Amino acid sequence: MELTKELFTRLDPTAGVIEGKSVSARRLSDLKGLFADEAAFDQALQEGDPVIYETSGVESASGEGDLHYAAGKILPGKIGREYFMTKGHYHAWKPAAEVYIGFQGRGVMLLESEDGRQVELVPLEANSIVYVPGNTAHRTINIGDEPLTYIGIYPARAGHDYGSIAVKNFAHVVVEVDGEPRLMKREDFLKEIAINKEL
Ligand SMILES: [Fe+2]
Repeated sequence: MELTKELFTRLDPTAGVIEGKSVSARRLSDLKGLFADEAAFDQALQEGDPVIYETSGVESASGEGDLHYAAGKILPGKIGREYFMTKGHYHAWKPAAEVYIGFQGRGVMLLESEDGRQVELVPLEANSIVYVPGNTAHRTINIGDEPLTYIGIYPARAGHDYGSIAVKNFAHVVVEVDGEPRLMKREDFLKEIAINKEL
């Protein structure tokens, strides 16, 4: 056992923060291009640049077999009909899997295969555990009306690949339909937005 490693931290499950760790905030402007409804995005940005989510991680161990973990908090809200969400990512080391554990709020995880053909929407809420397989794009989404808090645990060498998502985004969106979250193909939702704009 290497006692030089950080063996203990404490999580504030309401704040979604690992105590004593610096918190990184992602604001709306950091998610440019990721929400489907660009007009709604521009309007929300004009009204302010709200924090969409925050993360704080324990990522000091870097040996073979080591683990990293990070806490996250996604604020409640929507851009147009699309719920507040993380950027989403692949792992830079693609085979790396990850385990998410929910603490508070009502969320879902959008999981997609690289070609976008396989998709799963998995609940992430208090006392639920989600296994994200390797080679899978994953995005966390707050579908409730209070902050969603969770942690993710992943191999130290996993890394984050946000670039692929920035280029092609997810093939699916999670949007509100009659007060409930619904999984839709992005292209179908974009058509709906275009039709509504013409009306
Ligand atoms: Fe991840």
